[in-house]
Parts: sequence; structure tokens; C-alpha cells
Amino acid sequence: MRKKVIAGNWKMNKVLAEAEQFVQEVVKTDPTDQDVEAIVCAPFPFLVPLVEQTKNTSVKIAAQNMHFAENGAFTGEVSPVMLKDLGVTHVVIGHSERREHFAETDETVNKKTHAAFDHELTPIVCVGETLDQREANETMNHIEKQIRAGLKDLTEEQITKTIVAYEPIWAIGTGKTASSSDANEVCQHIRTVIEKLSSKETANQVVIQYGGSVKPANVDELLAQSDIDGALVGGASLEAESFIQLVEAGK
Ligand code: G3P
Repeated sequence: MRKKVIAGNWKMNKVLAEAEQFVQEVVKTDPTDQDVEAIVCAPFPFLVPLVEQTKNTSVKIAAQNMHFAENGAFTGEVSPVMLKDLGVTHVVIGHSERREHFAETDETVNKKTHAAFDHELTPIVCVGETLDQREANETMNHIEKQIRAGLKDLTEEQITKTIVAYEPIWAIGTGKTASSSDANEVCQHIRTVIEKLSSKETANQVVIQYGGSVKPANVDELLAQSDIDGALVGGASLEAESFIQLVEAGK
């Protein structure tokens, strides 16, 4: 049985006091259990205080991006070494907003995924198609290409630990959710591609999240699908109450 993993991706939102208030409420309620994990993907400036606040709790703190190099002349960037040193456990890699606005490519996604494992961080690798690709029936090919490139040269053990987030770009922040069966079909496809890269046993262990306008009203149906093991949530993760409800839905 795969664990459900609910990750709230705040993107570029909140100030520190709001971030701390949110985490305080989540930690107090502690909506996790052996079946469901909660991850807060916070902006860089909040990572230190939030890691401190969640010490000795089951809530995990993730970064929303990182550079693949360990250090060097990369002004404005943050390295995997820095994240690991702070106590961050997860890192989102290749979110479509990073691909669109910050020139992330499948190649940088792959370098960052390797760098995450080199520093014992769990990568949440994002893939997803545009509306044009979906309408042109290119979704499955595009997703296969992203998965093959993003997970290239990982060991089976690393693949087992990778979290994949399927986020159709047309469903992000638009209020349009992929139907649960369409989302599941792509998640099944992702698992099949992973099986080709590794083995059935490995593919069956990989946590695959769906993301794109997930909210308390639709999360149950999505999580009831055979191959959707969690959610990467933007808008509905900004309020503690709704994030807690989403985590509870994973039980
Ligand atoms: O990473 C989460 C995401 O892009 C989905 O955002 O606002 O549609 O839940 P949202």
C-alpha cells in the first residue's frame, strides 16, 4: 500500500508571520498518520523558522526549487547542500511555472533530481502537458518524454523514492480540474513508463501525485483513483483549514 502524500505549494505567497501561523495550526491539529504525509513547500526565506517549528512533528518542509550545483558563482541561487543543512526534507523540481518563466528544461530537471538524491533530499518531480498538447492528443507522448528525461540514470532505489507530480498545466490555478479518470489515466501511464525504466515492483512503489485545482470538494474523488497517491496543491493550500482537510482526506 502506497502512502498518500499531500503537499501544499504556497508558490510566492505569504509573509513570515502568516507562514508561522499556518504551520502552528497544522502542527496543532496534526492531520497525518501512518497512511498520509503532509509537506509544506515554502518560499526560501521561511525555511529556517518552519523547519524549527516542525521539529519532532510529522509535518515536512520542502523547498520549491534549488540549483543543481553544490556551491559556486550562481548569484541568487540556493544549493542542495544548503537545503539539507537546514533540515529541509523535500524539494519541488521542474514545476511548470519554473519551466515556463525560468527556463527549466528536462535536462536541468534531471540534474536537480540527481543533486537532490546526492544530498538526501526527496525530489517531487513535476510533469504536465499544455492545453494545446492535450487537444492535439500529445499528452501521453509528452509525459513519457518528461519522465524518461527527468528520471534518466537514476538507480531503482532512487526511482522508488522519487515523488512524481502530474500537473496538467491547463488545470493549474484555473479552477479546471482534470476529471478524476483522465488524471488517473495519465498517472497510470506514468507508472507504466517508470516500469519500463525500472521494474514493476519499483513502479508500484512510486508515489504519484495529481496537481491542478485540487480542493477539499474534489480531493476525495481524486484520491480514490487507483494510481493517484496524493496531491500537490496550490491555491487551496494557502489556508490552514483547507490544507488540513486535504491531508485528512488522505486517511
Ligand atoms: O503546484 C501546485 C499547483 O501548480 C496547482 O496549483 O492552485 O491549481 O492548486 P492550484
